[in-house]
Amino acid sequence: MDSLYHCRPFNYSERENHTLIVQTSKQTMSNTSYDRAKEIKAFDETKAGVKGLIDAGITQVPRFFIHPTETISTSTDHQFQIPVIDMKDIDTKRKETVERVREASETFGFFQVANHGVPKEVMDKMLDGIKSFMEDEVEEKKKYHTRGPNKKVLYNSNFDLYTSPAANWRDTLFLRIAPEPPEAEELPSTCREIVFEYSFHMQKLGEVLFELLSEALGLKPDHLKEMECSKGIALACHYYPPCPEPHLTLGTSKHSDPGFLTILMQDKSIGGLQVLHQNQWIDVPPSPGCLVINIADLLQLMSNDKLKSVEHRVLANKDGPRLSVACFFNTHYSPSSRPYGPIKELLTDGRAPIYKQVFLDEFTKYYNSKGLDGKSALDHFKI
Ligand code: OGA
Ligand code: NI
Repeated sequence: MDSLYHCRPFNYSERENHTLIVQTSKQTMSNTSYDRAKEIKAFDETKAGVKGLIDAGITQVPRFFIHPTETISTSTDHQFQIPVIDMKDIDTKRKETVERVREASETFGFFQVANHGVPKEVMDKMLDGIKSFMEDEVEEKKKYHTRGPNKKVLYNSNFDLYTSPAANWRDTLFLRIAPEPPEAEELPSTCREIVFEYSFHMQKLGEVLFELLSEALGLKPDHLKEMECSKGIALACHYYPPCPEPHLTLGTSKHSDPGFLTILMQDKSIGGLQVLHQNQWIDVPPSPGCLVINIADLLQLMSNDKLKSVEHRVLANKDGPRLSVACFFNTHYSPSSRPYGPIKELLTDGRAPIYKQVFLDEFTKYYNSKGLDGKSALDHFKI
């Protein structure tokens, strides 16, 4: 196995007198002993994320980022496209808009929205703010590095680093914004103001979307709002560094989202998001000005499987960095949390509930402990 000897151990950071030796892709095929847990821990302790690996000049993907070939297959289906729904005429063409939302949510579980009212400058500034944070000095980012469950502001690489079968080529700044926002000083100065402004627009748009979805389910417009679906938001601000061997890993593994609904702002030029439809991956290319909306697990549960929480993933990319901001609607952070189950108005004509009533903290705990392992968390809550 001479490849082993051609591959120098990767020296993470001599500046800190702290050497991280990780096995890389070339060594993976050799029969050297491999202590995965130790390498993961050493990587985590650098607190510099995947960006730190790139900054240190790594040219091969460390072994714990490598996914089985079959989960990375990049064959895509070009026959389908995620629908784009124009929200400009939402009042004058209400019925048509609701119908398009219903159809997209029942089939793809995804749609994009145009003319959604979030100003372009706010979107641009948000991506710039996240980029500034992620590209700041490691010393600055380290202040926010944690895996603490109750923190409102946390930065790390792979929330499920210690539990998922393979790590993702991605770093994340995670912000719990509503219903109890962090103090301004708790946020990094690089993105402080824009995070609050962007979040304000997310909540406004979220309320409009929950009205459309309530109507799509045949309920009164404020039904989902009254069930507090738009009350809690968290922002997952992702940074996908360029990857030297994108065929070996993923930016984000296949998963469905845990909350009620997600509003995703994608990078302006670098793609990689894919949605599973009829067992095929469909690309969702960057679409300037649009936001991507997807139904998440709890709304599938509440709609008793009428609306679909569909699996999606992000490919790793040689170009980059790719940035994205996912706004998750999920109220489990609220102390007044209540259980959620299939909505009783939808259980007419002898339809039986498919799911149990679940408390959101219970759901989130299960989702997080499982990690992104490619399986749906919803199955666990079936009757
Ligand atoms: C997520 C997600 C997609 C992206 O955060 O749940 O699916 O493009 N993100 O980053
Ligand atoms: Ni997602």
